[in-house]
Amino acid sequence: MNEQIASIQTAALELIAAASDERSLDDARVSTLGKKGTLSLAGALIKDIPNEEKAAFGQSLNAARTTLTAALEEKQTQFQQQADQAALTGIDLTLPARSIHTGALHPLTQIRHEAITILRRMGFALADGPEIEDEFHCFDALNTPADHPARNEKDTFYFDSGKLLRTHTSSVQVRTMETAQPPIRIIAPGSAYRRDEIDSTHLSVFNQLEGLFVDTDVTLPDLKGTLEYFFHEMFGNSTEVRFRPHFFPFTEPSFEIDVKLQRKGEAPRWIEVAGCGMVDPAVFESINGTRKDNALDTEKLTGFAFGMGLDRLAMIRWAIKDIRLLIENDTRFLSQFA
Ligand code: DAH
Repeated sequence: MNEQIASIQTAALELIAAASDERSLDDARVSTLGKKGTLSLAGALIKDIPNEEKAAFGQSLNAARTTLTAALEEKQTQFQQQADQAALTGIDLTLPARSIHTGALHPLTQIRHEAITILRRMGFALADGPEIEDEFHCFDALNTPADHPARNEKDTFYFDSGKLLRTHTSSVQVRTMETAQPPIRIIAPGSAYRRDEIDSTHLSVFNQLEGLFVDTDVTLPDLKGTLEYFFHEMFGNSTEVRFRPHFFPFTEPSFEIDVKLQRKGEAPRWIEVAGCGMVDPAVFESINGTRKDNALDTEKLTGFAFGMGLDRLAMIRWAIKDIRLLIENDTRFLSQFA
């Protein structure tokens, strides 16, 4: 090896060995292999060397560079290991790890997704409407007269403008029929608002899922079959479902649907879960009145509608005794659904 290069290498190795931390090691790298480092400056001398010695000189230069690079790397690894070691001292590896909390969907969201999935399989499409409604879409178009108790200020949240917080999702039936071309097959999940006293089964904001099917041959057996299928999918095939005659202004005939709830250690009870019926032709007529194209021809079309309480479904599914648990966001309750 060229003598000059050999002495540069020796000096550089000493510098590297003497480095006490990453910073001084970096200084050593710069002062030897850096652009203006000792080895690089020596390399520049190659042009003054006689031709026959150039090859040997070049080889010495490369050999020195390889040796120094390896020495630098080795020292660097050594510092890294020391740093890792230092970081670990003082840490008690026997401490139990902090538990990781996984997020989960709220039970109401879960039940809504499930209900939507079942009904979409049957061909229902999602529809939407505003929560701040007017009386026409919430009541008038739904054949609900001005003196009906649901329209009372005691039961409904009115704004000074005369608008109101929708008391049911049935207003989405009207919104949809105003623009859609039959056949219509929609579902509309959403919030509804009533001035109810809050207790274990009532909230002033609750969740419904509305359904509407309008076509040429829609019959009562279609309504019954659809909803029985729905509740069997929801709660299991052995669940008993009962249609109880009732009155709603916008359907004729109308029914309330009860599901038989059997809780362990309790006598079985019927729980009301939905209202439904065959769409009253008066509803079609009032919408024809605004559309002016007789698209909902009462001579040709019939329909069924239903509205179910999603909070109720969740309470039945998980035997939840107090509806308030669904809005209190107590993680002791919610974590059970994760
Ligand atoms: N809107 C009714 C309520 O909130 C429920 C209902 C009954 C919806 C009958 C319907 C229906 O679509 O046909 O009590």
